[in-house]
Amino acid sequence: MEKLKKAMERIKDKEEKEKKEEGLVIEPLTEKRVEYYPPFTPVYTQSRKFTVDPYHLIKNKIVSIDSNSPEIEYFKVLRTRILHHTKDKGWNTIMITSPLPKEGKTLTAINLAITFSKEFNHTVLLVDCDLRQQSIHKLMGIPNEKSLVDALVDDVPLQEIIVWPGIEKFTVISGSRTTQDASELLGSVKMQALLTEIKTRYPERYVFFDLPPLLNFSDGIAFAPFVDAIILVVMAGRTPLPDVQRALELIPREKFLGFVFNKSKFLEETSYSYGYYARE
Ligand SMILES: Nc1ncnc2c1ncn2[C@@H]1O[C@H](COP(=O)(O)OP(=O)(O)O)[C@@H](O)[C@H]1O
Ligand SMILES: [Mg+2]
Repeated sequence: MEKLKKAMERIKDKEEKEKKEEGLVIEPLTEKRVEYYPPFTPVYTQSRKFTVDPYHLIKNKIVSIDSNSPEIEYFKVLRTRILHHTKDKGWNTIMITSPLPKEGKTLTAINLAITFSKEFNHTVLLVDCDLRQQSIHKLMGIPNEKSLVDALVDDVPLQEIIVWPGIEKFTVISGSRTTQDASELLGSVKMQALLTEIKTRYPERYVFFDLPPLLNFSDGIAFAPFVDAIILVVMAGRTPLPDVQRALELIPREKFLGFVFNKSKFLEETSYSYGYYARE
């Protein structure tokens, strides 16, 4: 019996070691992890302020908030490559989508946007463009009602819907108001005008848009003409290749920046790993 137990432990240790070598594994969530967070420095006075709870963020795998987190390197690589492909061209509006639901679009968008905001020169706006079900504010623990729908339907000014969650140089548009007329609104002239305002008001700002999946809704296709660049999140071993190809056909080729390869091999509550493959 003792022998069997020892053998089982050896197998478990080996598996853990392999996991660590092949991908990145998020260490179990502890209170201690949260203690390391530096205090957030207030910078936005115009946006509405909600202070997020770091523990809530980490619990929801928003690991980019922690400069010491091992996963942050993946997002830094991603950030460097995106900067490399966009900066000289003056591109600062980036849409994140994927072929299918539940491939990690929203999580990638949040972690990537926060990582960008930690870069010296840039401020960041993250916009929840899933108008049927807004999830960024929920994942970040921001009890907010106003969403992009308010700007598109009721002409609410941008500064009234932009929220500053207490993270330096990072702002977000996401709230509980949703609509079923999502693709009409996202492809509307009003949306185009808003995009121009968002893009030009602060040229040094990077803006990330979290869209629904391309193969389920026409939202992403309607929205694509208004952004500079598009990133596709795919799940390794899960997204079927024909679906990836179909999704690629739906977006303008010249705007496609690359894939974020969200690894599902170790996709468990405590596992997390990313790869990134640029177009070239
Ligand atoms: N790399 C990852 N590691 C662990 N969990 C992940 C990873 N990517 C996504 N998830 C989880 O998978 C689920 C779907 O992710 P989400 O970002 O909401 O997908 P989408 O926006 O594409 O529908 C969420 O519960 C999220 O926490
Ligand atoms: Mg999503």
